[in-house]
Amino acid sequence: MQELTHFDAQAWSSQARLSVEDALSQWVPERASAGLGQSMRYAVMGGGKRLRPLLCLAARRSVAALQPNSEHDPLDDVAMRAACAVELIHAYSLVHDDMPCMDNDVLRRGLPTVHVQFGQAQALLCGDALQALAFELLTPEGEGVQPQIQVQLCRLLSRAAGHTGMCGGQAIDLQSVGLHLTREALEEMHQKKTGALLLASVMMGAACVDPRVLPISALAHLKDYATHLGLAFQVVDDVLDVVADTHTLGKTAGKDANMDKPTFVSLLGLDAAKALAKKLHDQAQAALVASELPQTQALSALAREVIDRPY
Ligand code: IPE
Ligand code: IPE
Ligand code: MG
Ligand code: MG
Ligand code: MG
Repeated sequence: MQELTHFDAQAWSSQARLSVEDALSQWVPERASAGLGQSMRYAVMGGGKRLRPLLCLAARRSVAALQPNSEHDPLDDVAMRAACAVELIHAYSLVHDDMPCMDNDVLRRGLPTVHVQFGQAQALLCGDALQALAFELLTPEGEGVQPQIQVQLCRLLSRAAGHTGMCGGQAIDLQSVGLHLTREALEEMHQKKTGALLLASVMMGAACVDPRVLPISALAHLKDYATHLGLAFQVVDDVLDVVADTHTLGKTAGKDANMDKPTFVSLLGLDAAKALAKKLHDQAQAALVASELPQTQALSALAREVIDRPY
């Protein structure tokens, strides 16, 4: 279904980004025991593209039109909680990913990494606390979020973050240093370490609706969209590590080759990796069309952003 009125994707994402920044700033505490609040805010509030929250809000937008409009739908607030919860898990994964026991990076989002700034023990706790806070956001007391929706959001996020998703992928990543992976194994690693959380972002947005109004086939196509996009995202991350400079990236360029990590660039070469990202993007767009959902323009624009991004 096409949108009848013109949709300004840039205006939508600027507005959504601002709302996400506001919500995160409200929810990530300034004060927590022994300086923990400081490191948590440093990890979360210091920039980032906010792609995952935007995907969540864009998915919510694509399903919201299926149900009759009310002035202020409480599910919009739930979607913002979901959006921020995914970003907190992402921020935690970056804090741990940068630690000396993992990628040993000193620069993130243009600033010293959390362990460089606050020490390793604090970085470990900061990540742990961000992960817990994500689930706190999804389970507010007395705010009228239907228990079934709370449970579904927790289910989607915990599975994406844990051993079947991000942590599992990170374990494969660490074990694969210096190895040659098959295409299939590399795809599995990327789908888990990065794709799972991007998929969860979309599915959590789509869960913020009365499930009776969302056709199963539309949900399956959304899943298809997010799966292709999730893989495309990490393929582009691998490409950017080679072609972009440290200043633009806000993180040290050339790290993958330096650490002898298997990537899509090391497996396929630069041109084929770029072509793969474009193909995955096209598949994601095709899945959106197939979903026949109204208001998929924001999701479509975000897919474009994923492959055109400079960092
Ligand atoms: C970087 O993610 C880590 C990966 C999963 C590849 P992003 O590129 O989304 O990082 P930020 O949030 O914009 O800093
Ligand atoms: C990180 O992948 C994925 C997660 C944090 C789960 P990378 O190690 O490639 O991310 P960057 O390049 O450091 O951002
Ligand atoms: Mg890593
Ligand atoms: Mg890394
Ligand atoms: Mg990378």
